[in-house]
Amino acid sequence: MTQSESPISTTNRESYDRWAELYDGYVNSTVAIDDLYFPPVYAHLSGLRVLDIGCGTGRHTIRLARAGNRVTGIDLSPGMLAVAREKLSSLDVALIEGDILTAPPPGPFDAVVTALVLEHINDPAVFFARVADLLTPGGGFYISEIHPDRIAGGTQANFVDRDGRAVKLQSFAHSEADIRATASQAGLRLLTHTDVFGGEALAGLNRDWIRHVGRAMIRIWTFEKPAGP
Ligand SMILES: C[S@@+](CC[C@H](N)C(=O)[O-])C[C@H]1O[C@@H](n2cnc3c(N)ncnc32)[C@H](O)[C@@H]1O
Repeated sequence: MTQSESPISTTNRESYDRWAELYDGYVNSTVAIDDLYFPPVYAHLSGLRVLDIGCGTGRHTIRLARAGNRVTGIDLSPGMLAVAREKLSSLDVALIEGDILTAPPPGPFDAVVTALVLEHINDPAVFFARVADLLTPGGGFYISEIHPDRIAGGTQANFVDRDGRAVKLQSFAHSEADIRATASQAGLRLLTHTDVFGGEALAGLNRDWIRHVGRAMIRIWTFEKPAGP
């Protein structure tokens, strides 16, 4: 555990360090559907200072940087960041090892993006407050997460390691009401929330995922830090 890290973050850092070498090649329907439907939501961001929270191996960071943004990625896991660093070596991206809850990077940012991280956040009130502090007035906050109904049903981030052992990450179920209330308390205004369902695009990637057709897989929220008082 580092000085500014909670025990939960330490456990997840160690698990993501183990997942890092496999992550980009890992067959995971949640990552696949996020990869199809989240990028269009932030595709208009260009020429901005953007923070990618829990950037992992840089799946979204690379898109944001190629769109001409000055991107900062923060992540707990040095293993995940090492993969990102290699992929992003030709781009002007700042990658920071740290816990967004206890050691946020210096801001401000015009937009904040986070994918598949909220489930690991034990204290959403602190999380949204950090984001609100870091955002410029008028800035947008874009979140993609495992759908709350799946999380309530027991779905959480997990993988099988090189030795065939199933590893579950530490996760927390946040209700829609909690997310809205804590974001609102932090001064963020909800603009949109969209449920993304499994369909032909997902099943076309892997026929096993036909079982997800018609199922709410992820939810995407967009928030704004209001520009005026
Ligand atoms: C499922 S991965 C998602 C990575 C990337 N956003 C993506 O969508 O491919 C979750 C990432 O969040 C990071 N993470 C979890 N809790 C964090 C925290 N409190 N602060 C910073 N990063 C965190 C983990 O280390 C991990 O890399």
